[in-house]
Amino acid sequence: MKSVTPEICAEKIRNAKNAAVLTGAGISTAAGIPDFRSPTGIYNSGKYNADLVFDIDYFHRDPSEFFRFTRDLFAVIHTLTPTFTHRFLADLERAGMLHAVITQNIDPLHYTAGSVNVIPVHGNYNTSHCLACGREYSLADMERLLGEADVPRCGCNKHGVIKPDVVFFGEAVNRIFDAQRAAKEADLFFVLGSSLVVYPAAMLPYITRGEVIVVNKGPVSLEPTDNRYFVDSDLDEFFKQVAEFI
Ligand code: OAD
Repeated sequence: MKSVTPEICAEKIRNAKNAAVLTGAGISTAAGIPDFRSPTGIYNSGKYNADLVFDIDYFHRDPSEFFRFTRDLFAVIHTLTPTFTHRFLADLERAGMLHAVITQNIDPLHYTAGSVNVIPVHGNYNTSHCLACGREYSLADMERLLGEADVPRCGCNKHGVIKPDVVFFGEAVNRIFDAQRAAKEADLFFVLGSSLVVYPAAMLPYITRGEVIVVNKGPVSLEPTDNRYFVDSDLDEFFKQVAEFI
């Protein structure tokens, strides 16, 4: 795929009328959260059972593997700070140069950085629900309950498991119509730090009418065309240079 320099990338951002981004786990690695499919990623570290940790059928049988992952994430969640690229995207939105951040990430870093129009297609931990009675719990509730039991359960008469509103394999993704609309309407569409192997998020660069700029360390799964660019780079390194030209 063709590449693009930081200077040209900045020019495309300045000229765009409706830019949008799709982010993946690669935007948060510099904040200390491992991605999924890199050699050091969550699925290769051996720490969790890669096939089961986000599998909804397995969760219904035994939710403890997912809560082991969640407990480890919660142990650091309040100490995490957004990366340069998270902050750069929030700055672009404030300046009216970015209209939507579609994210596959379940960490809170886009919000912490100040992005407002965030479409979290794989959900997040902001809320959780009892699978038996539907009662809603906040993030603070979930953190407290996880300190008290391996698997958090509701006080309802069925003692249902309380599941964070994170999207598992086998579940419908969140706000896909909003994500599709943002991608379709974009005249410049970025894919940042995603291997693009998980659908339906991975189809978004195929439905945009705009140019696509992928910035990722290592290859991603996207067919080359005339209006797609690929920058093989660390995100923060690349966008620090782009910021010089905005
Ligand atoms: P992946 O782990 O599949 O891809 C992350 C990509 O980011 C990899 O290609 C890395 O090389 C790249 N990367 C890592 N650090 C980077 C950096 N500093 N700069 C640039 N690139 C970097 O993660 P996703 O594509 O986000 O789903 O994975 C998609 C979904 O698969 C996740 O949302 C999750 C997972 O199963 C659910 O939890 C439902």
